Amino acid sequence: MRIVLLGAPGSGKGTQAKLLVAKYNIPHVSTGDILRSSVTAGTDLGKKAKAVMDAGQLVSDDIVLGLIQERFARTDAKNGFILDGFPRNIPQAQALDAMLARLGRPLQLSLLVDVPNDVLMKRITGRRSCPSCGSVFNIYFSQPKTSNKCDKCGTALQHRSDDNEATVRSRLQVYEQQTAPLVAYYKAQGKLRTVRGTGSINEIFKSISDIVEAQIRPLADVMHKIEEEEAAKAAKVAAEKLAVKEAAKAAAKAAAAAAKAAKKPAVLPKAGKKVAPPAKPSKKDITAKKAPPPKAKPAKKPAPAKAKPKAKAKPKPPKKPK
Ligand code: AP5
Repeated sequence: MRIVLLGAPGSGKGTQAKLLVAKYNIPHVSTGDILRSSVTAGTDLGKKAKAVMDAGQLVSDDIVLGLIQERFARTDAKNGFILDGFPRNIPQAQALDAMLARLGRPLQLSLLVDVPNDVLMKRITGRRSCPSCGSVFNIYFSQPKTSNKCDKCGTALQHRSDDNEATVRSRLQVYEQQTAPLVAYYKAQGKLRTVRGTGSINEIFKSISDIVEAQIRPLADVMHKIEEEEAAKAAKVAAEKLAVKEAAKAAAKAAAAAAKAAKKPAVLPKAGKKVAPPAKPSKKDITAKKAPPPKAKPAKKPAPAKAKPKAKAKPKPPKKPK
């Protein structure tokens, strides 16, 4: 799932992004949050960014694009992301398109959270955030149970340094001039959907979820099925290759064993026993071996049997008279 959340400062992008993360289990990529952690860490980048952010201006494209590239390289971004606060102008949107085209994973949806300007000022100046667990409250709309303490972890809440009226005015102006043109940019790509950003947080989330389900889920399911089938095919091919390799190995082993066995005497001597040398053949054996075998005489043809005349019975002499 690859989504951009568009909207003016205070429109509720961060609030809705957290709910989307909880529902779809994809990472929330907020350039504002990444920049603020660099400021807190006191890195060179953070030092450069702080002055620009406090003035309500945009940090340079080079810095922001570098941060995004780094973030996309992390494994959790492979299954998708929710971009919040990026892109902020046309060059950033073009760079994002190019990056995603290289990865073969184009953006699927750009969701505009639409909130009138008079509401925005109160939302931003009333915002209080927990530096420990990231929970967000609002002294006008969603107060913490204990004043200035996080409901979840009890940490003291913070007021962002750019959430004062003067900076908010500047941020809203920058939004109109540089970020609002992205509405037309994504409309032209057929990727723009708009939700009304006023009303309860849950109502807005329901509208956003409905759009995500209708626009992305069916496609995501089809893609998932295709990916699963491809993975199964690849696994089958790999298993077949392995079986062929194993069979070849076994055949080679058997052939080697047979060749070894052919060189050895048939009966292996017992350990420690002397083996008698093979008996020398006797002279008789040798002559017998040398003498050519007697030629077999051709068998005489048996004479044809003459028919013997039947012996005539000799007449017995007459008995002398006694
Ligand atoms: P960033 O942190 O991005 O601030 P932003 O865009 O000005 O947006 P916000 O965080 O102020 O508001 P949000 O829309 O997230 O509203 P949220 O949900 O918190 O940027 C800060 C600075 O970093 C920029 O000015 C710039 O200098 C720099 N920067 C960042 N990205 C950059 C980029 N790509 N390129 C160049 N520079 C960059 O809600 C606000 C409040 O309203 C909360 O208190 C919340 O509880 C409340 N709220 C939300 N929804 C509702 C509701 N439905 N009803 C009542 N209250 C609500």
